[in-house]
Amino acid sequence: MDKLDVFIRNLKKIFRSKGIITPLTASYEITPFCNLMCKHCYNRYKSTNHLDIELSYKKQIVSTLKQLGVLEVVLCGGEPFIDKDILNVIEHAKSLDLRLIILTNGLLITEEIIVYLKKILDKYDIIQFSIDDIIDDEESTQRNLTLEEKLIVLNNLKKLISMDINVVVNIVPTILNQHYIIKLGKKLIELGVKNIGATPYVPMGGKNADLIKPDYKLLADIHKYLDVYAKSKGINYSGGIEGHVCQSYVEYRKNNSLQQQNKRRVCDAAEFNIHVSYNGNLYPCVFMEKDEFLIGSISDPLEKIKIEMKKMNEKIKVELPSVCLSCELLPLCGGGCPGLIFDRYGTLQEVDPRCRRKNNAT
Ligand SMILES: C[S@@+](CC[C@H](N)C(=O)[O-])C[C@H]1O[C@@H](n2cnc3c(N)ncnc32)[C@H](O)[C@@H]1O
Ligand code: SF4
Ligand code: SF4
Repeated sequence: MDKLDVFIRNLKKIFRSKGIITPLTASYEITPFCNLMCKHCYNRYKSTNHLDIELSYKKQIVSTLKQLGVLEVVLCGGEPFIDKDILNVIEHAKSLDLRLIILTNGLLITEEIIVYLKKILDKYDIIQFSIDDIIDDEESTQRNLTLEEKLIVLNNLKKLISMDINVVVNIVPTILNQHYIIKLGKKLIELGVKNIGATPYVPMGGKNADLIKPDYKLLADIHKYLDVYAKSKGINYSGGIEGHVCQSYVEYRKNNSLQQQNKRRVCDAAEFNIHVSYNGNLYPCVFMEKDEFLIGSISDPLEKIKIEMKKMNEKIKVELPSVCLSCELLPLCGGGCPGLIFDRYGTLQEVDPRCRRKNNAT
C-alpha cells in the first residue's frame, strides 16, 4: 500500500463518516473482448455484439471520470491490450493526472509497449499481471495456456521488472490451481516480483460457478505459509489467498471498537466506486453490470450522474439479514458482496452465498 492508497482509504473513511457519496475510484472496461477463456472469469458469461467504439469516446469516458472527481482508474476488460487504442487511452489518462491500475493477462504486451509504458507511467501506477497457473511443469487448467504462452507471459513479466515498472502479480485461487500456489509464489519471487496479491474467487454466473471453488481450509494454510515466506524474502504479499472474510478459516482478531452502527451492507459500490462498461454505461461495480443496477451513461450531465449514483447507493445498501446483524465478523465483512448476492438469488436481501457462517453466525 503506497501513499496514494493510504490517502484514498482515509478519504473514504472521512467521507463515509460524513455521509458523502462521490466517485473516487473507477473501473473502466475498455473492451469486453479477450484472447483467453479463463475458467474462473466472471466476464465469460457476457454476450456482446461487436461494436467499434471511437477513440474520442474512450477519451471522453476518461475525461468525464476525472471531472466526476475520480482519482484512480482501473483499466480492465476483457483484455485491455487487445484494444487498439489502449496506449492512447493510457496517455490521455496520464495527461489528466489520473492514477492508473492496468489489469492484464500479459500475453499481448510487446517490447515496444513496455518501453512506452516505462515512459508514460509514474511510480504510483500499477500493471497488474494476472497469473493463476504459470508453472512450467504443471498443466494450466485455469487459464488454458500452452507452454509457449506461459513463456511469453513470464518473459513479459521479467521485462517489466527489469525496466523497474511497478508490477503487482495477482492470483485467483480456485480448485484448479490451489495445489501449486506455493510453488507459483516461490517462482514469482525468484523472478524478482516484489508485490504479490490475490483476489478471492467470486463465483458469478450461477451455482455451477461453485464447482471450481477452492478448499478454504487448505488456502488458510497456504496464506499463512506465503505470508511468512514473502516476509522472509522482503516481498510484499497483500493477502487474499485465504478467501473473503465470510468464507475463510483464518482467525480474525475481533475488535469491538469497530462494531458497526449501521445496519446496512457496507461496500464501496456506488458510494466511492463506479464502473464504466465499454459502451459508456455506468454501474456500481464490475460485478453489478446488470440492467437492474444501471446508473446512467457517461454522456449524462455530471450532476445527473452524481444524483443517480446516490439513488443507486440507497438501493444497494439494503438492511442486512438478521444472521449478519448478529455476526461478530460483520465489522470486517461488511455483509458480503451485493453483486454476487444478486447474481445468485435475484435479490439483495440474502446472505452472501460464500458465507460458511450463515447457518451458525454468532
Ligand atoms: C476480468 S480480468 C480483466 C483483465 C485481464 N484480462 C486479466 O485477466 O487480468 C481482471 C481480473 O479479474 C480476475 N477475475 C476474473 N474472474 C474472477 C472471479 N470470478 N473472481 C475473482 N476474480 C476474477 C482475473 O483473474 C483478473 O485478475
Ligand atoms: S484473460 Fe482476463 S478477461 Fe480474459 S478470460 Fe481471463 S480473466 Fe477473463
Ligand atoms: S453472516 Fe454475514 S456478516 Fe457474518 S460472515 Fe457471513 S456474510 Fe459476513
